[in-house]
Amino acid sequence: MPFFISFHTSLVHLQHLNLKMASNHKQFIIDFDSTFTQVEALDLLAEISLDKSKSKDSTIAKIKALTDKGMEGKLSLRSSLNQRLELLDANQTHLDQLVKKLKKEVSISFKRNGDFFKKHRDHIYIVSNGFKEFIVPIVEAYGVKPDHVYANTFKFDKNGKIKGLDTKNVLSTDNGKVKLIRKLDLKGEVFVIGDGYTDYEVKEAGLANKFFAFTENISRENILKDADHVAPSLDEFLYLNKMNTSLSYPKNRIKVLLLEDVHSLAFDILKKEGYMVEEIKESLSEKELQEKIKDVSILGIRSKTQVTAKVLRSANRLLAIGAYCIGTNQIDLQQCTAKGIAVFNAPFSNTRSVVELVIAEIITLMRNVHDKSRAMHTGKWQKTSAGNREIRGKKLGIVGYGNIGSQLSVLAESLGMDVYYYDIEEKLALGNATKIETLRKLLATADVVTLHVDGRKENADLIGAKEIRAMKKGSILINLSRGHVVNVEALREGIESGKLSGAAIDVFPNEPHSNNKRFVSVLRGLPNVILTPHIGGSTEEAQENIASFVPNKIMEYINTGRTTNSVNFPNLTLPAHENAHRLIHIHRNMPGVLAHINNAFADHNINILGQYLKTNDDIGYSITDIDKAYNSEVIKDLKRIEGTIKFRVLY
Ligand code: NAI
Repeated sequence: MPFFISFHTSLVHLQHLNLKMASNHKQFIIDFDSTFTQVEALDLLAEISLDKSKSKDSTIAKIKALTDKGMEGKLSLRSSLNQRLELLDANQTHLDQLVKKLKKEVSISFKRNGDFFKKHRDHIYIVSNGFKEFIVPIVEAYGVKPDHVYANTFKFDKNGKIKGLDTKNVLSTDNGKVKLIRKLDLKGEVFVIGDGYTDYEVKEAGLANKFFAFTENISRENILKDADHVAPSLDEFLYLNKMNTSLSYPKNRIKVLLLEDVHSLAFDILKKEGYMVEEIKESLSEKELQEKIKDVSILGIRSKTQVTAKVLRSANRLLAIGAYCIGTNQIDLQQCTAKGIAVFNAPFSNTRSVVELVIAEIITLMRNVHDKSRAMHTGKWQKTSAGNREIRGKKLGIVGYGNIGSQLSVLAESLGMDVYYYDIEEKLALGNATKIETLRKLLATADVVTLHVDGRKENADLIGAKEIRAMKKGSILINLSRGHVVNVEALREGIESGKLSGAAIDVFPNEPHSNNKRFVSVLRGLPNVILTPHIGGSTEEAQENIASFVPNKIMEYINTGRTTNSVNFPNLTLPAHENAHRLIHIHRNMPGVLAHINNAFADHNINILGQYLKTNDDIGYSITDIDKAYNSEVIKDLKRIEGTIKFRVLY
């Protein structure tokens, strides 16, 4: 009977509607330990109260094991609590210290979303098997009502020592959360956010509409499969429920792929930011990367991974690439720009490392240390001062006064060298350095010539036979820039003829691709010539610098739109966008786009708080900060403007 069926379903629908109308509020039940805060408070209390105890480590380990057993539902709650309190040996003073520490341990995404707690304070409940004595002071500071905190309470003896817990409190019993929430009889949609089994039990008992497994601080396998959603942060919870105000997009939804064994610091920084980070130790082939990159928003590579046009065609979500090195030849920058993908590298992170090696090599060569040491290893004792010189007062000629050249200038001068430099661009002389107008003049002036030019094609054979002839007799040549810059045949000739007294070479026209391959060069076996395997910038410090520099640039770009130091985007340094929505429009560089953007704002009566535009040959990068309240139709209009490549809203 079709009529009856239809009548019945409408009834059900009506009832459901009534329930919703009776209370249109969402109610939020939030766990405390490892959810509101990053830690288990009783574990922290143990660290404090057992600080001076000899058996501190083993007792803490026992307490942690009891916590986990309780959280995983493998031990009754009452016994887990009682056993832990007994081991704790804590008193009121320890509790005061605990509260101080817990204040610093509030979960990062909770700290970020303070507005949520204030706005929904009538509907937020903290329900915990922990203790009110330390929970209330923490959550109250966020606007949670103290009478909305449901937790255990301690019992103290007359000296202020914790001697147990109030056993009449329902939360000290198994299934306590379920019993309590049943009694609370909350109306409307009830959401539970927590990291433990007892939180899941509330949903299981039919007392909550949804259970969100909160994994920002700890991820417990046994609850993940039963959760309605896994929330790696509070942002994700708010985003799913369309309540996000502090972040436009939850960071845990931004996928980062790190290849080529990038230093672990980069992983830590990106993970701490809340991104979903995957690491692969090797580089991937074009085909593998094409597949892998489809859902990646941020890619991190070193010099081996080739980011080709083909790879970029599959990069549907890619916002930025971080090159954890100096060079970016391995990336198709033009295609990145055309697709609105910003590329960042680490141009200065190993500058100091290169400079230090150059200084060491100047001294080593001037004193013939290299050859003397080699002779000693074959049993020869050659004590003499002949041909050994100090570097003080000698003339250093720097070719290429960029990041490395200019820093070397400062350090060499502080060691007493007389510094001269030549650059094809106008560069400010640092300290007392003297600018020289031509390369030839510099070569004729310097006792030591050191090359720090960039790797452009035109710099091939910058130093050949003619240039070596122009150098002073007995001078030294150092190359830590690029292999093709020096003609190695001419250099060999220069050393063998005695025109040059020494050389240090770190980069070669043909370098072995791996440590297993042999190094072949006409420079092998020459006297007073130091050869190093392209290690000028390879220090632990440089790797660490790179691993923090690149993620920070990328995070700035994602969070604020700032493109300072981007290799392919117009560089824009921006003020913070407080109390505003920031609209980022990346477009092909063609006339009239900014006018179209502003027309769209005018059409929707939108008040512009700040606007910035910078272009390069290919793209325009426009940022507009507008008042938070606006008609979101404008976004559709902005995306429709001809020439639009990418559009993002930040808040
Ligand atoms: P940079 O780009 O800051 O400086 C290069 C400077 O060379 C610029 O001022 C440029 O105007 C100038 N220049 C280019 N061609 C020139 C020419 N023909 N004559 C005179 N000046 C010229 O580069 P940065 O960071 O100082 O690096 C310098 C070189 O060191 C690069 O080739 C880089 O690849 C190499 N490098 C080598 C490392 C190693 O492990 N050996 C590590 C880091 C960098």
